[in-house]
Amino acid sequence: MLNIAVFVSGGGTNLQALIDRGFAGSYPHGRITLVVSSSYKAYAIERAKGQGIPYEVVARKEHPGEAFDKRIIEVLKNHSIDLVVLAGYLSILGQTVTDAYKDRIINIHPALIPSFCGMGMYGLRVHEAVLGRGVKVTGATVHMVNEIPDGGEILLQKAVDVLEDDTPEVLQRRVMEQAEWIILPQAVDMMCKRIKERANEPV
Ligand code: GRF
Repeated sequence: MLNIAVFVSGGGTNLQALIDRGFAGSYPHGRITLVVSSSYKAYAIERAKGQGIPYEVVARKEHPGEAFDKRIIEVLKNHSIDLVVLAGYLSILGQTVTDAYKDRIINIHPALIPSFCGMGMYGLRVHEAVLGRGVKVTGATVHMVNEIPDGGEILLQKAVDVLEDDTPEVLQRRVMEQAEWIILPQAVDMMCKRIKERANEPV
């Protein structure tokens, strides 16, 4: 049974999608055993509490410079984490962390990488840029995390139509409902099986 840590910063709807798909209980290959939040105010913490999932807050302002990555690694080791899932997480993990957990960190991005990604492209800003460019299709991407922002192997993508009268908020919600909350659980299942196969464990 793999130990999964979900990293959050805000509402935690992607964490909730994982919980609803059984990753806090019935799923046979892994379990969410830790939530790490970048903020004490994240509603995602309430979702973790509701499921009895332990949580830690690692705020960058409390761990300046290299201390941040060191604290992240310390927390992951303390909880024997096998897979890290960035779900609406807004802090950047340094190369110390991405190297220590190489091929063990995935992220959900609310656009079809390589479009509308990279530094500064997160949350509503992504959907504002999508509407500003006038594209007719957007979506979400789950990708491996390495030292390049949004630069790792793409695992899954799902397209979503952009509609005439969309606002950034309406489009964000559609991308969450029709893409993020569907492909993130699928990607976590893929990764649990990939990690177990690498360890020659039965899947
Ligand atoms: C979502 O747009 C997600 O794609 C992005 O952060 C936003 C909030 O996610 N990464 P959540 O509700 O906190 O999971």
